Amino acid sequence: MIIAIDGPAASGKGTLARRLAQHFGLPHLDTGMLYRGVARQMLDEGLRLDNIDAATSVALSFEPQLVDEDRLRGREMGEAASVIAAHPPVRSALLALQRAFAQQPGGAVLDGRDIGTVICPQAAVKLFVTATPEVRAERRALELTGRGEPVDTAAILADIRLRDERDSHRSSAPLMIASDAVLLDTSSFDVAGMVAAALAIIAEKAGR
Ligand code: DC
Repeated sequence: MIIAIDGPAASGKGTLARRLAQHFGLPHLDTGMLYRGVARQMLDEGLRLDNIDAATSVALSFEPQLVDEDRLRGREMGEAASVIAAHPPVRSALLALQRAFAQQPGGAVLDGRDIGTVICPQAAVKLFVTATPEVRAERRALELTGRGEPVDTAAILADIRLRDERDSHRSSAPLMIASDAVLLDTSSFDVAGMVAAALAIIAEKAGR
């Protein structure tokens, strides 16, 4: 069973994906980490994020097993990832890797922006996880505080709105809800409530 989870930044999709993967004993890929990893490598090599050729060549030789998640989680890298993710050849370069992960025997859980629309249009279950920008900013602020990073909630909210705008309006694989996805608004849910709601949807969609 392939479970495709899409949604905007800080919607809870990553937490949900990890919990569902655990519940069903499936491997999980946080595809945002791929874009963050490519952006990080470019910055480390002193390359400009708007250099499409350089970004594509980094993406083509990218080795996801070298990703150090902790180094990539910060706000700055999310912003940089959103910039390079708008380049169509970068998206193409990362496509095969994501599809191969999804097609493992037994299935997988993938979360991102275009999993249900582009990467796994055949997924058995597609969830589009969202929450209001204010709730998402608050969650991101809590997460950053937990990591010991300085927090400016107004700046985080502005950042989330900017990323929504860029991720939703790019020409290549914009963030959008697949026609057969189920919308899950987590604004008023805690983690347990969100997981329970998702499990109910999966039971209905896939009988699992
Ligand atoms: O989910 P995240 O915040 O880690 O993603 C970082 C950026 O990467 C996001 O702003 C857009 C991009 N991204 C994408 O374009 N497609 C994906 N499947 C995952 C992430």
